[in-house]
This record gives sequence, structure tokens and C-alpha cells, in this order.
Amino acid sequence: MVRNVEAGYGAVRVLHGVSIEVREGETVALLGANGNGKSTLLKCIMGMVAPESGEIFLETDDGQIDLTQKTTEEIVSLGIALVPEGRRLFPKLTVEENLLLGAYRAEARAGIPTNLAFCFETFPVLHVRRRQLAGSMSGGEQQMLAVARALMSAPRILLVDEPSVGLAPILVSRVIAKIKELKERYQLTVLMAEQNFNQATKIADRGYIIVHGKIEFEGRSTRELRENELVKKYYLGV
Ligand SMILES: Nc1ncnc2c1ncn2[C@@H]1O[C@H](COP(=O)(O)OP(=O)(O)O)[C@@H](O)[C@H]1O
Ligand SMILES: [Mg+2]
Repeated sequence: MVRNVEAGYGAVRVLHGVSIEVREGETVALLGANGNGKSTLLKCIMGMVAPESGEIFLETDDGQIDLTQKTTEEIVSLGIALVPEGRRLFPKLTVEENLLLGAYRAEARAGIPTNLAFCFETFPVLHVRRRQLAGSMSGGEQQMLAVARALMSAPRILLVDEPSVGLAPILVSRVIAKIKELKERYQLTVLMAEQNFNQATKIADRGYIIVHGKIEFEGRSTRELRENELVKKYYLGV
């Protein structure tokens, strides 16, 4: 899906030949400490940062679609959605208004009743609090809302950028469990960027470790990841 991508900001190169693949139905972890290029890679996939070189393809039944030639809106239409780092909610709008903003594109608008019902069923707390201002909810609820908002475009592939940041461990577990439920019940394909190794590997099928904009290790299973020396040194403290 992503091949040899080089990208950065202005003269600063952040990604140095990154290649990763995410297959249908998988949950893949993109593991790495702060500042190593996780968000930049997700933004490249979403068309929010233009790669200087390399390829980003979406495999479909009708062949490969080159995402580097598409706008973010077109990429969302193709069934890819991002839960951004830091959630990026509108704190002064209600829960329901935030959700509706996740369905801005024309095709999604037609699906609003279905997708809203789906979000409320998956996240009952959002239904209870639908008239509450997003900014007045707890961190965990806000993260649920950020995930739900991305689901309003009915994606097949969900990119999740550091859902654990700023949350107490119990809430992290709850958010992670929700993502797992989405994967299992709806065969959603998930690419999750995380620094929290233990939480990410609870739900990932496999993963990559990114260091200074390069994929340093590819673990074909969470066990392979856990047994990797780099992981032991940096994430598990052994
Ligand atoms: N909008 C930006 N403009 C310039 N530099 C940026 C921008 N966003 C990120 N960077 C830099 O790119 C590098 C990788 O950042 P990022 O992709 O956010 O890493 P991560 O998500 O792994 O923390 C960092 O050195 C960061 O300072
Ligand atoms: Mg980031």
C-alpha cells in the first residue's frame, strides 16, 4: 500500500523511504516514539501531506488506485478515514454536531441516519450525551467521539493516530477495546499509530516500528514485535 515514501515539511525530510502494507481486515500497529514520523505517514496516506516521492496505493476489486493523485476529500470518499492526533473536536459544538461534521461529503450525507445510529449503538455514551458540548466531556469520551466522527463517513479503512495520548490507563483500555470491537464486528481495517506498545499490541495483528522516519522492524505478529530487541530496549524496559 505504501512504498518508498519520502516526505517532509519544506526542506526538512521526515520520512525516508517508508514502505508498509495493510491488508483487508487487519489491524496494523505503527509503533514509534514522539517525533519519528508516525503522524506524517498517516497524513501522507490521507493526502494532507504530499510525498516528495514514492507510491501510496489503495487496492480495490477494480485494481489499484493511486492516492497521491487524490485530494483528502476524494480519499475519504474511497473509504479511508483518519482519527487525528489530539482528537481535533469542536469543543463548543455538541456531540451530535461534531458527528454530523464527520459526514460532510455528499455520499456520506445520504447515509447520516444509518451512520449516526451505528455510532450511537457502538458508543452508547455518545447517545446519552448527544446534546452535551464536546469540550465538556471527559478525555476518554472525547476520544470515543473522535473515533465515532471518523466512522460517520462509513470507512472501510480507519487510520487512528495515538488514541491513548492524554488518557488514564483505564480509559485507554476502553478506547482500545472499542477499536477491537469495530474490527471484529465490522471487519474494519485499522492502521493505528501508537507509542503505547502494550496497548497497541493488545489489538494489533502485527506491526511496524518507525525510528527517525525509517521502518526499522516489521513484526509479522505481536509476539515477533514483543521479542524484538529494539522493542525490548525502548518500550518494554528489559
Ligand atoms: N507541520 C509541520 N511542519 C514542520 N515540521 C513538522 C510538522 N509536523 C511535524 N513536523 C516534524 O516532523 C517530525 C515527525 O513528526 P510526526 O510525524 O508528527 O511524528 P510522530 O507522529 O511520530 O510524533 C518531527 O520532527 C516534527 O517536528
Ligand atoms: Mg504523531
